[in-house]
Amino acid sequence: MDGNGRWAAARHLPRLEGHRRGAERIFDVVDCCIDQGVSALTLFAFSAENWRRPVEEVTGLFKLGEWVLKANLARLHRRKVRLKVIGDLEAMPDFVKNPLKQAITDSAKHEAFTLIVALNYGARQEITTAVKNLAAEALAGKIKPENIGWDDIANHLQTSGLPDPDLIIRTSGEHRLSNFLLLQSAYAEIVFTPVHWPDFTKEEFTKALSEFGKRERRFGMTHEQINHTKTP
Ligand code: IPE
Ligand code: MG
Repeated sequence: MDGNGRWAAARHLPRLEGHRRGAERIFDVVDCCIDQGVSALTLFAFSAENWRRPVEEVTGLFKLGEWVLKANLARLHRRKVRLKVIGDLEAMPDFVKNPLKQAITDSAKHEAFTLIVALNYGARQEITTAVKNLAAEALAGKIKPENIGWDDIANHLQTSGLPDPDLIIRTSGEHRLSNFLLLQSAYAEIVFTPVHWPDFTKEEFTKALSEFGKRERRFGMTHEQINHTKTP
């Protein structure tokens, strides 16, 4: 969800107003996902590197996050959304951490759609923790290093049990992944749009989905193989 700051600057508004307007887009996209049969959506809300921003912006983002969750709890429940967080939630202030933990517990039995909030998340940090845990298990004799496979690594990531992303959308004209789901995105299709997040409406999301639909996903195979295996 990038471009809130630039959206605000273009209108001579404070950056936090951009974040506030950006937050209004979130549930349009969530509704769109549910209606179109998407099973999971991850929102990159706050990166492990975003702590480097001015403290007023960081605090403003956290307060906004608290408010957005509170204002949309009933809606999430009504639409049977299962909420998850990836990232270091423990390092977040209590007023963010506690209501989120409660919402995660309360929504755990919902199955149709999973909303994952990447909060204080960084893929390299996630991978480092996974490696530490695998190494500890190997030292304790629970696993043999020679038997470690991709599934073991995937099971030690915070996304364990969640599907890999099929589509990653980066808004506001940036062309990079910025430490987001680096291993899980191995075969993700990436759509870049110049639209700033506060302008990322249902229509823009639908456009990104239709661009995704036009991509040929080969997973290492040839075009001919893919077309041969396609069911008519
Ligand atoms: C939102 O957009 C990203 C968040 C951390 C919530 P930005 O704040 O990165 O917007 P730009 O890049 O300054 O335009
Ligand atoms: Mg940005």
